[in-house]
Amino acid sequence: MSLANRNLVTIDDLSNQEIEAVFSLADEISDSMNQQSSVCQGKIMASLFFEPSTRTRLSFEAAMHRLGGRVISVVEMGNTSLAKGESIADMARVVGSYADIIVIRHPWEGAAKVVADYASVPVINAGDGGHEHPTQTLCDLYTIKKERQTLEGLKIALWGDLKYGRTIHSLAYALARFGATIHFRPGSGLGLPEHVIRKLTTEYGGMLERYNDTKGADREMLFPLDAIYITPSKPHQLVNIPDVSIQIELKKGVDALYVTRLQRERLEPMAEGQELERDYPVVNKKLLKEKQFRQTLVMHPLPRIDELAYEIDADQRSMYFKQAAWGVPIRMALVALLLGAKQVDIPEKEGATFFLKIDYPAYNRDFGVRCKNKKCVSAQQTEKGYIKPGFKIVAHKPLTLRCVYCEHETHPPYIASSKWHQGIVDYKRYYDADSFMLGRIQPENLIIFDSKAIAQAEGFKPGKKALRG
Ligand code: NCD
Repeated sequence: MSLANRNLVTIDDLSNQEIEAVFSLADEISDSMNQQSSVCQGKIMASLFFEPSTRTRLSFEAAMHRLGGRVISVVEMGNTSLAKGESIADMARVVGSYADIIVIRHPWEGAAKVVADYASVPVINAGDGGHEHPTQTLCDLYTIKKERQTLEGLKIALWGDLKYGRTIHSLAYALARFGATIHFRPGSGLGLPEHVIRKLTTEYGGMLERYNDTKGADREMLFPLDAIYITPSKPHQLVNIPDVSIQIELKKGVDALYVTRLQRERLEPMAEGQELERDYPVVNKKLLKEKQFRQTLVMHPLPRIDELAYEIDADQRSMYFKQAAWGVPIRMALVALLLGAKQVDIPEKEGATFFLKIDYPAYNRDFGVRCKNKKCVSAQQTEKGYIKPGFKIVAHKPLTLRCVYCEHETHPPYIASSKWHQGIVDYKRYYDADSFMLGRIQPENLIIFDSKAIAQAEGFKPGKKALRG
């Protein structure tokens, strides 16, 4: 099967079978590294890095060189016409006419999707703000597979900055799809964002059991826990577990402990970095002496700050330099596949993949409601001229819209119907989103407002029924 001309914007752009196929090709490439130098001969990769990077950029570029291709690159926004106010859509169109494949890292969430929408060549997301980093996930899963021989049904602990860590988001989705049980241990105030939790518990079908200090997750414990994601493959084992069972569950240990640094560059301007650091988990020699970590792989996407002690580098369980090293064969396999220079057999796998592609209704009116995430590509001044807000309606109670770019959720308070008022201005009314009126309006007629002022500016008056005080 060919993956030619596909994009990799989120980890869900690859099925589990396709991920396994990338890994088989990476194995093949690793075994014959010196025979790859004509695979992508004559092809050009554009490497656009608008955020700092060592591993990701250099491993992509090394991958292209080892495949016999060439690389053109930008490593600073200040050196491009983006600094003159050019949109990333225009940049994507132009760079797509110079190169055969684009790799982009950008601080705006959803930027890689916009580049993929506008470039005429395959686009790989090398990290878009705090959203996703799918190729790091490929390196992470490949490392686990190499060490554990399987990706199915593992127990994995994710520690650190679960809020802003894009590697965490992509990895959590992929692990859930492979039927993992995931233990979350964030630094305080750095738990998983709501939209990530919703995806885990709806699209991937599992359950999230949250804990707090009164229910077994004592912060003084060596291995305190914020929440466990229970895969649908273990429907009843961990559900409604009492405190004692949590302790037993924790003592059994995990296959891998994945820790990340505090993503300082993404903190809100008012956030107190020191405050967040105070309770930040640290992996060191003392921790790894505990029985439950005897067989645990210690993983980190790097760079590290203080959360991963240098004293464990020589420990056999430490995997982080391997994760980085696998970046070259993994990215060689991926680039060769997306360029159509290699084909793969997609194995027909037994067993379920825990991933439901839910067809949420789309909401695409270009007025009334916008994404509230200031880091979303759709919220940027230079992009507003062409990006129309786009959402999926993912829940009704409360009304919840998921931005199609950054996936952040918003809960707009007012609604109206385009149908009832037609021709009769007096019927142009808006209502509370949490009133029964929401159920009465057909999705294609629904109009949603961020505020009363916006509804009124669009010519709507408050409805008599169902209005909040
Ligand atoms: C990660 C990233 O950029 O998100 N680094 C990487 O690509 N290996 C993790 C991080 O910066 O903390």
